[in-house]
Amino acid sequence: MNDLNFPKKNIGFFPTPLHKLENLTKYFNRPSIYIKRDDMTGLAFGGNKTRKLEFLMGDALSKNCDCVITGGASQSNHCRQTAAAAAQSGLECHLALGGEEPDSFTGNLLLDKLFDAKIHWCGEFRKGEKIPAIYSHLAAKGKKPYIIPYGGSNKIGALGFVEAMGELKSQSEEMKIKIDKIIFASSSGGTHSGMIVGNILYNLNSTLIGVQIDKSENEDKPYSSLIAELANEILTELDIKRNVNEKDLILRNEFMGDGYGIVGELERNAIKLLAGKEGILVDPVYTGRVFGALMNMIENKEFSKGENVLFWHTGGTPALFSYYDKLF
Ligand SMILES: Cc1ncc(COP(=O)(O)O)c(C=O)c1O
Repeated sequence: MNDLNFPKKNIGFFPTPLHKLENLTKYFNRPSIYIKRDDMTGLAFGGNKTRKLEFLMGDALSKNCDCVITGGASQSNHCRQTAAAAAQSGLECHLALGGEEPDSFTGNLLLDKLFDAKIHWCGEFRKGEKIPAIYSHLAAKGKKPYIIPYGGSNKIGALGFVEAMGELKSQSEEMKIKIDKIIFASSSGGTHSGMIVGNILYNLNSTLIGVQIDKSENEDKPYSSLIAELANEILTELDIKRNVNEKDLILRNEFMGDGYGIVGELERNAIKLLAGKEGILVDPVYTGRVFGALMNMIENKEFSKGENVLFWHTGGTPALFSYYDKLF
């Protein structure tokens, strides 16, 4: 249990560091740029999913499940972190991955194999669409599976980011800074909605700028309304009498380039700038895109000089090892 009173398994190492990017702050000479190092959560090369998995695994264990099922793209960070968390929790892990079995396993896939995840290749389905079929198959064999949705983004997983905002509040108070704006990757909605709720619960009053990573495939509802819906579900669950309207949230959707996982100049420049000036790695799919978006916004003078802008590093760096030819 924890402050939020939900079952939780401690998997990562928190708080993750919060520090200033001194060189890049000087380089851009606009806002002060800070970074929240969720690439250092300590679980299998880190990442934002560790926070969600602490609550999801806590829930699975409290329900006496004996295996977990989740899904994502073949280089999914979420799947790699889930496989590691399952190994640590003594649960079998089934992954519904997009694509076909490759000749060689690199990056996150290599790690999935090391964690002994059972991989189900799902062709064009890279967002966990085949999870129900795998669930039925395992249940018929007498297993008790626990479903972790695509991205770990439901009201249980998102609690990790509600809590993360409390962590940020304590750290920023200790450092005597006010974080004016937070920029981060928004893809399946759990990070974004959890941050919205945490911002309210802990009175941070920071402006949240989500950078949309991939097109939503839900034709009935725009992605922003799914984020607002999830935030409202969490607010209800926590008995907080507030309502989030999708019109009030910021979701920047102009940085999706040629699509999910396709590295363009934006990501390449961002990855190389952070590596070259700060010795910090960001990934080709999510955080490289977000840092590229931040560079673009700084160049367009969207931030003023005295502002403190936080780049929330959500991890993903193992994918770098399968992108050599796209980076050079
Ligand atoms: C490295 C990284 N950053 C950010 C995200 C986006 O988080 P969310 O799915 O909660 O929107 C993901 C999702 O897989 C990720 O792997």
